[in-house]
Amino acid sequence: MKRKRLALLISGRGSNMAAILAAAGPDYPAEPVLVLSNRADAAGLEVAAARGVATAVVESRAFKGDRTGFEAAMEAELAQHGVEIITLAGFMRVLTPDFVRRWEGRLINIHPSLLPAFPGLDTHARALAAGVRLHGCTVHLVTTGVDEGPILAQAAVPVLPEDTEASLAARVLAEEHKLYPAALYWLAAGRVRVEAGRAIITGVDSARVSLLNPLPRAALLSKQ
Ligand code: GRF
Repeated sequence: MKRKRLALLISGRGSNMAAILAAAGPDYPAEPVLVLSNRADAAGLEVAAARGVATAVVESRAFKGDRTGFEAAMEAELAQHGVEIITLAGFMRVLTPDFVRRWEGRLINIHPSLLPAFPGLDTHARALAAGVRLHGCTVHLVTTGVDEGPILAQAAVPVLPEDTEASLAARVLAEEHKLYPAALYWLAAGRVRVEAGRAIITGVDSARVSLLNPLPRAALLSKQ
């Protein structure tokens, strides 16, 4: 198996990045070759370096709104490391359509909601405010619309009555750390194709389960 050379783009703590680095042993179809941050103070850079993965910083602030110049500098780093596939892992910059098109099919993101619900920021607070009973996270191929693009995988969690934004975020994050390495595995292994805007993944079992919250009494369920 020829492993795909992987870059992970981060802006902050990098816990999803760390989950992918931990999963990416010799049998994993993506080989992390670069962690790239748009901020020098991203805590994830140290985690990556401690694991022996090359790191680079392209300070978005230095480009003062010149997104094309910022992305050209990122592309130079990506090319230098021979990158073939990119994961966005808490990368807080919107990429231009040109960049996204260049990497189409090879660029994925994780978003902390069950898309298409709650695109954008503050997803956990918005889920609580909306009173949804189920929330979660989504891994998707990146297209030119923000938090759009064919969905590879989703994980759902219950929203509990006593939840705060922090407790809900933690429950979702634990699922992100399982979901992202799995979805990236399928993409890097060449098992993802897109048909009519839907991602099809070969060789995976779809879970035939339902998640009900709140849980009706068994007696009520059996009457339906
Ligand atoms: C995660 O919640 C992810 O879904 C979102 O940004 C956050 C990044 O967290 N895109 P981390 O840096 O991976 O810990």
